[in-house]
Amino acid sequence: MTAALCATLVHCSGGPAGGGSSSGASSGGVSCDEPGSNCVGPDGGRIEPSYALPEGKTYSTPDYAAMCVERLGEIPFFPKIADGSYETFDCRDFVSSKGPVAGAEGALIPVTVNDVATTKCDGGGLDNGYDCVSKCDRAMWFTASEFIDEGQSAACQPGPTVTHVRNAQGTDWVLLCRSVQDPQGLGMTKTKRFSDIALIGYNPKSGATCFFQNKGPTGQDGARVAHPGDRAKSSTIWPDKPLAYCTDACHTTKAFVHSPWIDQAKRKDGKSIVPKAGEQPDYPLGTKGAFRVLNAEAQGFELKPELVDDKVAACRTCHRLGGSGYREFSDWSTGTGAAYYDRITNNYKAFAKSHTMPPSLDGLTAQSFATSPYGIAMKRIDECLTRSPAADCKFASTRMGAAP
Ligand code: HEC
Repeated sequence: MTAALCATLVHCSGGPAGGGSSSGASSGGVSCDEPGSNCVGPDGGRIEPSYALPEGKTYSTPDYAAMCVERLGEIPFFPKIADGSYETFDCRDFVSSKGPVAGAEGALIPVTVNDVATTKCDGGGLDNGYDCVSKCDRAMWFTASEFIDEGQSAACQPGPTVTHVRNAQGTDWVLLCRSVQDPQGLGMTKTKRFSDIALIGYNPKSGATCFFQNKGPTGQDGARVAHPGDRAKSSTIWPDKPLAYCTDACHTTKAFVHSPWIDQAKRKDGKSIVPKAGEQPDYPLGTKGAFRVLNAEAQGFELKPELVDDKVAACRTCHRLGGSGYREFSDWSTGTGAAYYDRITNNYKAFAKSHTMPPSLDGLTAQSFATSPYGIAMKRIDECLTRSPAADCKFASTRMGAAP
């Protein structure tokens, strides 16, 4: 109880000085159990840490998962059997080994070619397990990134899925199953083997975030995805220690990265499966959302500061910009970048479809974009979100904890 109070209501100070670029675990100062923190309650008295698994130590995957569950609440995909023992989850059929999970909603991430959905490979694409259709309308960014060693070309593949569930504490859990493998020839949208399985937990009130990435690289059993904290089954999917999650380039300023590709996966109400700013009540537009990767420093999750430059103000009315991968994402959202567009159908290279940012192109044309505030922002993003930014780019540490 005190822990919950502490995370949401009280002011905590002290702890190692923040301000650095990789100060994820400490700069927000909202966790009462950080080493050296001084957590003050509403009456001015000190609140003692009460978590069984404190931050500051490096944990194995099962222990890190237990630490995440202690702060974020349970992962409802995996109904609990006993301490450290959980049901598994089928990320093709969106059910647990015990049956449907209340509130869980999953969807196939479709692939379309000139607006026609396809469920089959056509022999094109990279031989990297993520790709098998030569061109598509909206491709996966992941393999296109220069920060990911998968060929620097976007990927078109039928069959990936994404599932969301919210727990009683208001934490959103998202499970992504991609890199679809079909050695048995069941069909890309039927096979339950995936080489890339990833899980994110994020509480929009506290900002607390946990990332889990499977151990790869070969096709794993998406019919029986295990809870990462399951003492017996965790290692069927997850590595011994949590793997770095591209927090320095991709998931730098928030838990959930959106793209035209993943946002094709919709809920029954038409909204994105992955909680999206402006669509979900706890996800307002703007740059105030809390984000804090739990135990980031001790687990080796590196985070980068966000770009707060005046010249990018037009984009920052809606969200943060941060991490070198975000330069690529921004290019791909505004019609440039061969690593992405070489895989895209001509229809989706046209201005109105290639410029997905800003979301409304009212008053903008292919001719006027470059000199608009958005075009100016793009120029600045290209100068600043690189491994060696221009000297006058202005950065600030992302607010890593709950709003004071
Ligand atoms: C009117 C609001 C608005 C403006 C202006 C806007 N965006 Fe976005 N953008 C969004 C929303 C909403 C998302 C989904 C993000 C989320 O839910 O976290 C998004 C997502 C993105 C993404 C995908 C990665 C991510 O953040 O999840 C990129 C890249 C992006 N925007 C770049 C830009 C750039 C560059 C500009 C300025 C040229 C810009 N945006 C302007 C609303 C906006």
